[in-house]
Amino acid sequence: MSEPGSRVSATIEFLRGIRPSILPSLLLCDFSNLRHEVELLEESGVEVLHLDVMDGHFVPNLTYGMPIVEALRKITNLKLDVHLMISDPGTYARQFVAAGADCITFHIEAVSSSPVRILEEVRNQGVAAGLAINPGTSMERLLPFVPECDLVLIMSVPAGFGGQPFQTVALERLHQLRRDFGPDLLLEIDGGINVDTVGPATSHGADLLVVGSAIFREADYCQAMTRLRRQFQTT
Ligand code: DX5
Ligand code: ZN
Repeated sequence: MSEPGSRVSATIEFLRGIRPSILPSLLLCDFSNLRHEVELLEESGVEVLHLDVMDGHFVPNLTYGMPIVEALRKITNLKLDVHLMISDPGTYARQFVAAGADCITFHIEAVSSSPVRILEEVRNQGVAAGLAINPGTSMERLLPFVPECDLVLIMSVPAGFGGQPFQTVALERLHQLRRDFGPDLLLEIDGGINVDTVGPATSHGADLLVVGSAIFREADYCQAMTRLRRQFQTT
């Protein structure tokens, strides 16, 4: 297996190469037919899957953990972007690396001290590492650590549930990060992304756009993806 540093660089270059990109979030999908769901998403040209891991403690919802990531790793070559909405990311990040994650983001709200050790630990194992921040959390909590991130996940809804309304504060945050940290930083936005919000999100700098209900509530995922991609506004 290639060196960890080169694996991280390869993932980052891959993500830069596909941006802007729609990342379906596996939260509202049909888990009773996961293999088929992934095949449909692959047929619709998806490049990355966004996996919403929730522990029922950091957020008032409980989804899945390493076994689902391992199962997905076995059935697809799509990149796996693991969004850890858990209270103790430092303990579990290594296990999600082992399960097959290509990217891991965890919440700045979930760490009481510096997140840099966890970011470095993930990256040293060949996985791109980033921080996520909820709309209600001050950007002052995040900004000092952005230089240590391969990507930043800006939540446009409070973490925990799909189908929530988009919060426009996320647009200001995308603009701020793009202005202050330049064109290379990978910016991901998550929550309430649909045909109305894809345009503003991309025009404010979003590279990776996570979508749940605007895909999985549609009968035809290909059509949903086409409609969403048609709204990209790259500056
Ligand atoms: C919320 C998750 C999001 C959510 C997106 O905690 O992180 O990824 O599933 O779902 P929609 O697109 O329906 O807001
Ligand atoms: Zn998410």
